[in-house]
Amino acid sequence: MCGIVAYIGGKAAQSYLLEGLKRLEYRGYDSAGLAVLEGGKLNVVKAVGRVANLEDKIEDMGGFRGTIGIAHTRWATHGGVTEFNAHPHTDDRNGIAIIHNGIIENYAALKTYLEEKGHKFQSQTDTEVLAMLIGELYAPQEGVDLEAAVQAALREVTGAYAIAVICEKEPDVLVVARKGSPLMVGVGAGEYVVASDASAIVSHTTQAFVLDDYNVVKITRTGFRTSTIHNVPVTSKIMQLELELQEIELGGFSHFMQKEIFEQPKALSNCIRGRLNMDEGRIHLGGVGNFSKELSKIKNIVLTAQGTALHAAMIGEYLFEDLAKVSSVAEYASEFRYRNPIVEENTLVIAVSQSGETADTLAALQEAKERGALALGVVNVVGSSIARETDAGVYLRVGPEIGVASTKAFTGQVAVLSMLAMYMGRKRFMSADQCRDLMKDMERVPGLIERICEQDARIKKITEKYTHRENWLFLGRGYNYPTALEGALKLKEISYIHAEGMPAAEMKHGPIALINDGMPAVFIANRGRQYEKVMSNIQEVRSRGGHVIAVATEGDKEITKYAEDVMYIPDIPECLSPMLAVVPLQLMAYHAAVLRGHDVDKPRNLAKSVTVE
Ligand code: G6P
Repeated sequence: MCGIVAYIGGKAAQSYLLEGLKRLEYRGYDSAGLAVLEGGKLNVVKAVGRVANLEDKIEDMGGFRGTIGIAHTRWATHGGVTEFNAHPHTDDRNGIAIIHNGIIENYAALKTYLEEKGHKFQSQTDTEVLAMLIGELYAPQEGVDLEAAVQAALREVTGAYAIAVICEKEPDVLVVARKGSPLMVGVGAGEYVVASDASAIVSHTTQAFVLDDYNVVKITRTGFRTSTIHNVPVTSKIMQLELELQEIELGGFSHFMQKEIFEQPKALSNCIRGRLNMDEGRIHLGGVGNFSKELSKIKNIVLTAQGTALHAAMIGEYLFEDLAKVSSVAEYASEFRYRNPIVEENTLVIAVSQSGETADTLAALQEAKERGALALGVVNVVGSSIARETDAGVYLRVGPEIGVASTKAFTGQVAVLSMLAMYMGRKRFMSADQCRDLMKDMERVPGLIERICEQDARIKKITEKYTHRENWLFLGRGYNYPTALEGALKLKEISYIHAEGMPAAEMKHGPIALINDGMPAVFIANRGRQYEKVMSNIQEVRSRGGHVIAVATEGDKEITKYAEDVMYIPDIPECLSPMLAVVPLQLMAYHAAVLRGHDVDKPRNLAKSVTVE
């Protein structure tokens, strides 16, 4: 969603800010803006659409040489996509400019108060309210400098924020703060780069610290000071960013999504490395080791997530019941958090999230914790809000995911949930030998995905035949019912084709009415417990004129009698098959989007990380 970049140092801020904004483009946005202080004057430029539009505008103005500035990409929440509503927002008295991620929930009450004080608003945003509030409280003659005014304003605010603030009257000070929305400060030589995401920092410095909730940091060119909104000093711990620059660059691929699909063999190898202990026939998960006793007593599991992560969680539901014999349910976090859930004793809640910042998932986790559940995270981004909020967790270790359509994070989530289910299974009914057998199959997964990726050209050819069709069905059963949902989601996210995923048996209860001549129906029909049943469903579609595209197990000749097109995956135990079956679907969605001329990495209206509910 929205992205923040800010700079203070000895060099022209403009290039840092624009480069940072480009690095954050992947998160999804609809307008961008920047403010640079130069000669004691605030220069604010905004543009609707791409960062390139903002760059053109700045170039036309001759550029800025100021060495302190803030910049933002906005994904509209309050107010439409207009230049007025884009950030930075300014106050009307002191030359204060602010950029903000998150939502100020009590903005309406604050706005009324500020209007009574004579402030005139130009936008419909909650952020402008915060700019005005800081301006209203700013009183340097009375000792309320920018840092103090920000602290005081944030004491009045409810909601979530990551902000960066500059002021004409204090040209050597950058103030940043956080509650709920991620923010980190990169510490370079005589310069600081602040961003909502490490990818905008790592090309300048690998030393950084993450703000905790309610932290306010005052940064000058010579140092920084962290405190709480109540001005209690805090020590910020500088850490080494693990992110490598090459991980966030295209490296020869046309799109990040394509790169990340092909990266899955390597990503999954990293994900499972050191976690499969063949000698002992058990799984080693360092992040949950301290809770080993509690985990052996767990009676119910609630997996909670949104989007692609929910599909992984749904596969988790099958895995935990099959391998660990623990009753499990996967729930949309957005529903779980508001439905007064019953959390019984010995319940484990598992929050699944690539970014670790999804607002609903975080809130669901907090709700479950409050009701006494033990909280685990299955998260990719190290140090993210969900990772910090959980009692324990397992990181995906699949590297940064830039493509908005999640791919390697999905397979990583399924891999981690499989290992977690085996880990818990070993504490209950699973023997060392059973575990060893599954681990051997798990070890094969990266190589098998590589083999599927080799079919890329064939998959593209198959896709070409159907890209003109506007309605597709994705059908699967058991473990691959969630895979069908994920295949449909991938297609709609980036190609804007309407696609529905469902359990294959459900088709008869309504959706079968949609099937007309030539309608593509993608079946996940690999060999497994319900193979015969899936074959019957395939016949039902065919006899109504639908065109069947099947994901089948290598060596299955039978399927060619019923399917127009077949994409093969290697044989593997059913419980691990979603990690393979999803790959042809990812490639299909990718090719469909490219063939239809869409910008795969910047799909319309989507955000990579949804930090508002
Ligand atoms: C957004 C993204 C999806 C993602 C979902 C959950 O909608 O576009 O790709 O699956 O959020 O994100 P998370 O970071 O929690 O996995």
